[in-house]
Amino acid sequence: MVSNSQRSQELANQEILRARHCHKEPQNSLKVGGLFAGIGGIELGFKRAGFEISWANEIDKHAAITYKLNHEHTLFEKDIRKLQVDEVSKIDILTGGFPCQAFSIAGYRKGFQDDRGNVFFEILRFIDALSPQVIFLENVKNLQSHDNGNTFKIILNELQERGYFIKHKVLNSAEYANVPQNRERIYIVGFRDKDAYNRFSFPQPIKLTKSVNELIDDEVEERFYYTSSRYYDQLKQEMKRSDTVYQWRRKYVRENKSKLCPTLTANMGTGGHNVPLIIDKKDIRKLTPRECARFQGYDDNFIFSDKMALSHLYKQIGNSVTVPVIEAIAKEIKKALRA
Ligand SMILES: C[S@@+](CC[C@H](N)C(=O)[O-])C[C@H]1O[C@@H](n2cnc3c(N)ncnc32)[C@H](O)[C@@H]1O
Repeated sequence: MVSNSQRSQELANQEILRARHCHKEPQNSLKVGGLFAGIGGIELGFKRAGFEISWANEIDKHAAITYKLNHEHTLFEKDIRKLQVDEVSKIDILTGGFPCQAFSIAGYRKGFQDDRGNVFFEILRFIDALSPQVIFLENVKNLQSHDNGNTFKIILNELQERGYFIKHKVLNSAEYANVPQNRERIYIVGFRDKDAYNRFSFPQPIKLTKSVNELIDDEVEERFYYTSSRYYDQLKQEMKRSDTVYQWRRKYVRENKSKLCPTLTANMGTGGHNVPLIIDKKDIRKLTPRECARFQGYDDNFIFSDKMALSHLYKQIGNSVTVPVIEAIAKEIKKALRA
């Protein structure tokens, strides 16, 4: 049975979505298609920069629930390998924060046998069919060094062979988004048009003015506290500062000396690893999913279902992107395209 409070939450969510979609993109705005969309952080960044999102694809059914609570365009909920290119509309920009398990070059040489890594080559299938003006890819920083740089070289070669001029850069969210999260990611931008490529540059760093404490709630539910954890005494000994975020690393806790939140990861909600911890006015606790979302630059009107297991929410947010970093890059892409 749906309770009154659930019903009013649903109505409030619908209202937020309606209000959000009253805002119309200008006609002829550039259209984006999103692969490996997760909860849609890349799409949101491009939307904030004035692009129109046409469609997206995501395989994970829990991520898809969050996606649909926040975006109105079509989401193809299936394995990219089963998504046919003629199912999607033409777009100007193709985006993809593809899964970061770097694929094996050995697999590539053997004819793409590595199942997980192969999804990169699915991106090429969409590029070949849709010929977007711009490609935007995001991944972990280490993509560059994987297999002595060979993996990255292949990625660049594949894009260049298709006629794209590529720029790439590692950006740290703490330096480009005014959010206190240490998160280094590589961004790859490819242009079909050489002049647009020449005009494009990555955004300039901006001053970090937001502190960890500004993103923390005063009161949270009891279940986020570590009071009954078997590691409580150890944590109490090691965690002394209330102006930074610690990270539980299975057996020890790591303090972030620069008063930042450590990189939020997909596994932070499971197995007791990489859990972001703080000391608040009451005691030691982990960050809530909502707080983690703020460290990724999401506004509080981004909707998460109350019914979703915490582990799924942490995974979705850790897997996502820092939205204002995407927005800043997307604005530069727009300038370069003179759109
Ligand atoms: C690194 S996350 C990208 C998250 C996204 N940028 C966001 O803002 O939430 C990679 C996503 O690719 C999805 N994925 C992995 N394999 C896939 C496949 N074969 N088909 C479609 N999506 C897939 C995962 O479920 C995951 O959500």
